[in-house]
Amino acid sequence: MLEDIDRLIEAVKVFHAENQQELEQFRIRYLGKKGILNDLFREFRDVPTNQKKETGQRINDLKQLVTDRIEEISGTFSGNSESDRHHDLTLPGPSIRTGARHPVSIIRNQIIEIFSRQGFTISEGPEIEDDWHVFSALNFPPEHPARDMQDTFFISRNPDVLLRTHTSSVQVRVMEREKPPIRTISPGRVFRNEAISARAHCIFHQVEGLYIDENVSFADLKQILLYFVHEMFGPDVAIRLRPSYFPFTEPSAEMDVSCRLCGGKGCNVCKHTGWLEIMGCGMVDPNVLSFNCIDPEKYTGYAFGMGIERVAMLKYQVRDLRLYFENDVRFLDQFSSAH
Ligand code: DAH
Repeated sequence: MLEDIDRLIEAVKVFHAENQQELEQFRIRYLGKKGILNDLFREFRDVPTNQKKETGQRINDLKQLVTDRIEEISGTFSGNSESDRHHDLTLPGPSIRTGARHPVSIIRNQIIEIFSRQGFTISEGPEIEDDWHVFSALNFPPEHPARDMQDTFFISRNPDVLLRTHTSSVQVRVMEREKPPIRTISPGRVFRNEAISARAHCIFHQVEGLYIDENVSFADLKQILLYFVHEMFGPDVAIRLRPSYFPFTEPSAEMDVSCRLCGGKGCNVCKHTGWLEIMGCGMVDPNVLSFNCIDPEKYTGYAFGMGIERVAMLKYQVRDLRLYFENDVRFLDQFSSAH
């Protein structure tokens, strides 16, 4: 009998099942009511007393081996009922990481949404541009410092091919292909030859705005910007326009918003002025209209341009620009929004 059991042990050791069914047959053959093990236990009764200990042990070894083997093989089948029986269906499922939008995308989408409500379309232009679209058509004089290698990334040592330094270039692209009335915003990435620090980066994002029609006035510009600020930062935030200079607008202005942290009283963030600069703007220079075949006698327009990171900094109080580009999940995880 011992020999028989040993032979069975060897057979079980090398047993393989292709599928669940074969494994189940194996289980019945050994562990079923009329299975091999029950037969052995029945025969065991007639084993002489002096062999009982060894035989009993060997039968138990076989039984253990069969059980282990079934467990082992069933583990290699995916979704099999044997292991499903061990699953606790009341356990919470594995958590799914959904991720969150990047703060720059959140703010960009909010800006798009706010201006879309006022009838602005979205336009895009290339990041690799030429001198005409970034500078000349925007009335930059030939000696303007922005054209300098210090500020602009040029490509292939050809001074006519460069990375756009502002999204104002998209104004020109739009004026080339559309007739007034034009009412559009252009979000996009821009590049400047700057040393990276908490306050400056060589890559950032801007949104340009352009409205050209008959009788567009500075009052229209002020009104749309006030609307934008109230939608973005809340109805209690005030704006202030300071005279400034840009080659492509006349008159030009810079717009400040009242500091939300101190309510305009003055604090560290607003350098005790109560105001924070947020964008440049102005009435489109007649030269720019003429360069782009739009009659400045008939049409007028306004333009504005803002940095998306700048708006994000004011909104989220995150004052180190580098954080927006490092893609550290611990930082990014903090911005979740339906936008
Ligand atoms: N392009 C300017 C910049 O990058 C921002 C700007 C200022 C855009 C005035 C405008 C504008 O459209 O009218 O600093």
